[in-house]
Amino acid sequence: MADLYLEEWRLQIEGAVLEDGKSPNNWDVFCHIPGGIKNGDTGDIADDHYHQFLEDIEIIHSLGVNAYRFSISWSRVLPRGRLGEVNPKGVMFYSKIIDNLLLKGIEPYVTIYHHDHPQELEERFGAWLSPLMQEEFVHFAETCFENFGDRVKYWTTINEPNLLAEMAYLWGRYPPAHCSAPFGNCSSGNSDTEPLFVLHNMLLSHAKAANIYRHKYQLKQGGFIGIIANTLMCEPLRDIELDREAAKRALAFYIAWMLDPLVFGDYPPEMRQYHGNELPRFTSEETKLLTQSLDFIGINHYTTLYAKDCIHSTCSSDGDRAIQGFVYLTGERHGVPIGERTGMRRFFIVPRGMEKIIEYVKERYNNMPMFVTENGYSPPEKEDEQEEDLVQDAKRIEFHKAYLAALARAIRNGADVRGYFIWSLMDNFEWVYGYNTRFGLYYVDRQTLRRTPKLSARWYANFLTNSGHNHVEDANPGSFKIKDAYFLD
Ligand code: BGC
Repeated sequence: MADLYLEEWRLQIEGAVLEDGKSPNNWDVFCHIPGGIKNGDTGDIADDHYHQFLEDIEIIHSLGVNAYRFSISWSRVLPRGRLGEVNPKGVMFYSKIIDNLLLKGIEPYVTIYHHDHPQELEERFGAWLSPLMQEEFVHFAETCFENFGDRVKYWTTINEPNLLAEMAYLWGRYPPAHCSAPFGNCSSGNSDTEPLFVLHNMLLSHAKAANIYRHKYQLKQGGFIGIIANTLMCEPLRDIELDREAAKRALAFYIAWMLDPLVFGDYPPEMRQYHGNELPRFTSEETKLLTQSLDFIGINHYTTLYAKDCIHSTCSSDGDRAIQGFVYLTGERHGVPIGERTGMRRFFIVPRGMEKIIEYVKERYNNMPMFVTENGYSPPEKEDEQEEDLVQDAKRIEFHKAYLAALARAIRNGADVRGYFIWSLMDNFEWVYGYNTRFGLYYVDRQTLRRTPKLSARWYANFLTNSGHNHVEDANPGSFKIKDAYFLD
């Protein structure tokens, strides 16, 4: 069996918003603010995975994957954070998922935090804006290690701190919708500084949780711990040195922003150069914790964009800021898109980006073990689309073949990539885009919630079972084998 995987995330599929002791989280509340989510969609029911998880595990099993990544809903397990008790029904729900996956020979990869936390933490102290969130997170993470760590061997602490910091505190598009001009129109926030503070708190939360894992659980439980970065690849907009530098700067200000501290103990030199005192500092004790906190890096990769220099060239006002590294990012050059368009405004099909981003992480971080924890495709939305059309998703197959081939090239070039997760098992609640942006290998009927395999699901199952004879040019799933264990002491 090949080491290729599938993944899903809770709020996006779970539903059962206030069932069995779960408290409302920041997204549950945000979804009910008029205008927040496209078409007024909410995650209240989502794919009803809370009630259908056994059937869903059957589907996962039928595909032949050997791992499944999912995250834990904080407000289901600890409805009041540190102030309250553990919710036994929440723990039982995830325990059953883990047990049933293991029964089928599927390895659970658990992400502790994927954008949602009890709303109470937001209201009490402003959640990620406050250092108090660090202790809350550590408590949540430890509750997970304690209750699930006997069976979960692959942990990631936080999904995409860099994307979250930007979406919620720079663009103001995710809760708590903070931003300031020229980035958007929010009632509060500061786009030039808050993303920096929020990411700082997330990195320290990760490091402290990893420290507890290392000292209290890892030896006994024998697992691994990592974090997940949202990555994009950048190419120069114009064929000039300034834009080549801008492309590098964009990666430093987005990816190295969260990974440099975890490997080298401080923010990238490029950021220190352009930011003033607003870029926080780490104490030597914190640096020590940070640099001992990673067994592997998770990489979510979807797109490549063009980068334009804004230090010496004229740019639109949002590129012309330190928080953006004085870089303007765009998907088009003279009106021509960098790759085929998808259902997401900033996602273009550029398979070479996969090879390049893996190469970047490999070079910058000394080839630390990596997992591609997300990669996927959503088609451009069309009016009145029916199930019959949506399940004929040849484009998604083409997408994965091309991205896997690019990944295989990077691996052949020495990158230590140990697994690949498709986003996503089934169509789900795509955040502010609601349900009409569909990343799934399975179509989900919004009325009946019935799951129907798309062409891509059949392709993936074939690909996995005939791994020796698959049709992906150059992609040999055999090379995704989990290699030797990697520990930090
Ligand atoms: C997130 C997923 C999301 C996907 C597609 C990733 O950044 O982790 O939750 O569905 O992108 O937009």
